[in-house]
Amino acid sequence: MTILETEALTRAYGGVVAVNKVDFSVESGLITGLIGPNGAGKTTLFNNMTGLDIPSGGKVFFNNKDITGFPAHKICRMGIARTFQNIRLFKDLSVVENVMIGRHFKTGPSETKGRFVNALHSYVYLKREEQEIYEKADSWLDFFDMGQFKNELAKNLPYGKQRELEIARALATEPELLFLDEPAAGMNPQETEHLMSIIRKIRDLGITVVLIEHDMKLVMNICDTITVLNYGQKLAEGTPREIKHNPRVIEAYLGKEEA
Ligand SMILES: Nc1ncnc2c1ncn2[C@@H]1O[C@H](COP(=O)(O)OP(=O)(O)O)[C@@H](O)[C@H]1O
Ligand SMILES: [Mg+2]
Repeated sequence: MTILETEALTRAYGGVVAVNKVDFSVESGLITGLIGPNGAGKTTLFNNMTGLDIPSGGKVFFNNKDITGFPAHKICRMGIARTFQNIRLFKDLSVVENVMIGRHFKTGPSETKGRFVNALHSYVYLKREEQEIYEKADSWLDFFDMGQFKNELAKNLPYGKQRELEIARALATEPELLFLDEPAAGMNPQETEHLMSIIRKIRDLGITVVLIEHDMKLVMNICDTITVLNYGQKLAEGTPREIKHNPRVIEAYLGKEEA
């Protein structure tokens, strides 16, 4: 079943067509890789599917609903979460607080509106809700084997754990679909290995994953299907084996990586 689909999605910045009539499709329950050279339009495609940017043309469908041009917070509430190419943590908050903030992104002010009619009732309710958010955040940290770091400041975590903490925060919004932009960037081989097992565990929870990544070992090992972008256009899509042996992909991207 298709969970997300774009139709001729296009984003031009002046004369630069960063994403050019891309038909991208994501199957529910799978790990989909999005690869291609730097500047190919991968992050722009993510931004235009998650409400961080507005397409110049084309459509985005999530569970068959047209979400083209919806704002990021609305898309988040519908069940799509993401991480960014560069770390965006609250470095002076604790690890567990960073995850709790993820949950607040989703429930946020609109659900609390109207509760202040009865201040005491609100206070009790919010305290209980806060406790639930805390417990849920705590269990996500256990999922990442990060429980022992929960009261550390985010900035004191090793680099690989900081990157995983961002994923934990995205998961705290309880998404159906998770977008990861270069999750392994800057990680050492051990950290990448751990990340791979985590991404598989996320998929096994039934959460659909789409990831941009340059680490071909990670991509070829964990992706069920791969889409290749080049100069803003879709160059190929297929299984890791098909992509690895596709002459056009080798020419545009894979061959050059090895050189
Ligand atoms: N906000 C922007 N304004 C102008 N040009 C942009 C903007 N964002 C991306 N681009 C351009 O779009 C192209 C694709 O960029 P990007 O999506 O970041 O590529 P990738 O993630 O594949 O490396 C690049 O040429 C980049 O310079
Ligand atoms: Mg990018």
